[in-house]
Amino acid sequence: MSGAGRRPVVSGNWKMHLNHFEALQLVQKLSYNLTDADFDAADVTVHPPFTDLRTVQTAIDSDKMKVQLGAQTCHFADKGAFTGEVSPAMLAKLHVQWVIVGHSERRQLFGETDSLVRRKLQAVLDHGMKPIVCVGETLEERELGATATKVEGQVRAALEGCSPEVVAGLVFAYEPIWAIGTGRTATPDDAQTTCALVRRVVGDLAGAGAADAVRVQYGGSVKASNASELLSQPDVDGLLVGGASLDADEYAAIVAAAR
Ligand code: PGA
Repeated sequence: MSGAGRRPVVSGNWKMHLNHFEALQLVQKLSYNLTDADFDAADVTVHPPFTDLRTVQTAIDSDKMKVQLGAQTCHFADKGAFTGEVSPAMLAKLHVQWVIVGHSERRQLFGETDSLVRRKLQAVLDHGMKPIVCVGETLEERELGATATKVEGQVRAALEGCSPEVVAGLVFAYEPIWAIGTGRTATPDDAQTTCALVRRVVGDLAGAGAADAVRVQYGGSVKASNASELLSQPDVDGLLVGGASLDADEYAAIVAAAR
């Protein structure tokens, strides 16, 4: 449990890794490695590629695993002529519970804007799933001292028009882009400062109750060796893990740090 009694949420973003056979092996091994104490302490989510979702969902359902299923993105529309896209309705039908929206790779490599992220967030909520909303600055922005401005703008854009009740149930992920996949982790102090900023902006927009309840993950080169220190920060309520979530032993050790 984090300082203010918020339940940690630890998420594994598998990105474009693992075919459905490999994904099945990973979720089975992970579920074997995790204990009831882990699941009592935290929400544990995995976010496989689309082609693996059905396989992983079947394994979770039939083996009554406590791992929660997530996706990495989705379109905002229920259906339509959007070649190559996957709709939130399709994900909900597959018992997907969580969807990452606005990951920096989606923003940087696939041109996702703040307003698109806002629409996706709404679509995920409308289908009864939980968004994990990613925010974070580039190295250049950081060096210019623009971290707070960038992150505040992203949070404000994502929350435009959301009621305080909805905001209270959201999960944000602060991921400094320079720390993603680079082996460079933000210091626990950096993570704390910007996660606290996210909470402050949420408070400004939706009130103290929502700020208290909203959960803020840190992401960017999280490993078993730095998870505890990051999680010990008062405003860090969980972790969004990329590379290290592909190794069941490493990811289980990261989850255990949330106990
Ligand atoms: P990483 O990725 O842990 O491999 O740095 C984190 C992320 O992009 O969510």
